[in-house]
Amino acid sequence: MSETQTISSTTSILENGHSLDFKVPKDSTVPQVPTGTGWNGTTIEAKDPYALMRDCNANSRLTAQHYLWKELLGFLVHPDIDTRAADLRVADVATGNGIWLQDFARGKPPSTELHGFDISLDQVGPKPWLPANIHMHTWNIFENVPDEFVGFFDIVHVRLITVVVKNNDPRPILANLRKLLKPGGYLQWDEVDTIGCSIKTVPGVSAANLDTLFSQLKGRDTWKYELKRIMDENGYTDSMLYTYEYGLGMARFWNDVYVSTWKEFADNALKTPEESGKLERNAMMETLNGASIMVPKLVWVTKKTD
Ligand SMILES: C[S@@+](CC[C@H](N)C(=O)[O-])C[C@H]1O[C@@H](n2cnc3c(N)ncnc32)[C@H](O)[C@@H]1O
Repeated sequence: MSETQTISSTTSILENGHSLDFKVPKDSTVPQVPTGTGWNGTTIEAKDPYALMRDCNANSRLTAQHYLWKELLGFLVHPDIDTRAADLRVADVATGNGIWLQDFARGKPPSTELHGFDISLDQVGPKPWLPANIHMHTWNIFENVPDEFVGFFDIVHVRLITVVVKNNDPRPILANLRKLLKPGGYLQWDEVDTIGCSIKTVPGVSAANLDTLFSQLKGRDTWKYELKRIMDENGYTDSMLYTYEYGLGMARFWNDVYVSTWKEFADNALKTPEESGKLERNAMMETLNGASIMVPKLVWVTKKTD
C-alpha cells in the first residue's frame, strides 16, 4: 500500500463549485484523539498551559505570520550566521507548526539535520510527510535537555515565545537553549517589540478600541530591553540586536494577525465573551476606517562562549 491514502469525502461539490451541506452518515464514528504517543509522538497527557490555541485558525495564523516575517526580515537565518556546512545541525525550539523549519529545509542538502521541539506537536503535519531530515520532539523548554541533544546544535532558533517567558526573566530559557548548542554555536531569537509598538491611523480616525485591545495582549515584557546584556552575562558572547519595522503599506496585513492573536487570547484566557466580542467589533470598525497596530520586530543573534 502506498504511504499516501486518498479518503473519499461525503460532501457533494456542485458544478458551480459550491458544496452541499455536509451530512454525517449515521454509522460514522467520531475520530478519536490519539492516546499515548500519537501520530507525531505527541504526549497527549503532557501539561500544556499554553495561553493561545492549537486549532485551524491558530495554525493558519502561524502560517500567515511566518511569510510576513520572512518578507520583512528578508531571511530565515540572519546573515551573521554561516549556514553553509553540509552537516549543519539546526534546532527550532517552540516550533509551533514547524513552518520555519520546513522552509529552512528547502535548498539544504539532506545531510543537514533539522530538529523541531515543542511542548505540543498537534500543529505539525503528519510525520511521514515531513522531509526525512526533519525530526520533531515533544519537549518543554523548562525541563532538562535530553542527553542526546546536549552540545549537539550549530544553530538554535526560537521565535515568538513571549508568552512562554516566566516572571519577565528569560534566563532559564537562555540556559537551556545554551545547553543545546555546541561551543561557538549560534542562537537566533526573534520576537515582537510589544513595548515599542504603536497604533497608526489615517488623519481624523480614532483607534481607542484597537488601543485597548492591543494593551490587553502586549504585557510588560521589559526583559526584551535587557536581553542583549543578559545574553552576554550568561554564557553567550558578541550578542547583537537588530530591529525591523514594516511600512504603512503592510500595516493592515499585520494588524489582522494581531487582532486574530488577541481573539485567541481572549477566548482562551480572558473568558469575557460579550465584552471581548464588542471590543473586537469596534476595533475592526476602526481598522476599516484606517487604523492599524504597528509592531516592530526584534532579532537577537548571539554565540555560545567556547
Ligand atoms: C506563538 S507560537 C510560535 C511558534 C513558532 N515558533 C512560530 O514562530 O511560528 C509559540 C509556541 O511555543 C510553544 N510553547 C509554549 N510553551 C512551551 C514550552 N514550555 N516549551 C516548549 N514550547 C512551548 C507553543 O506550543 C507554541 O507552539
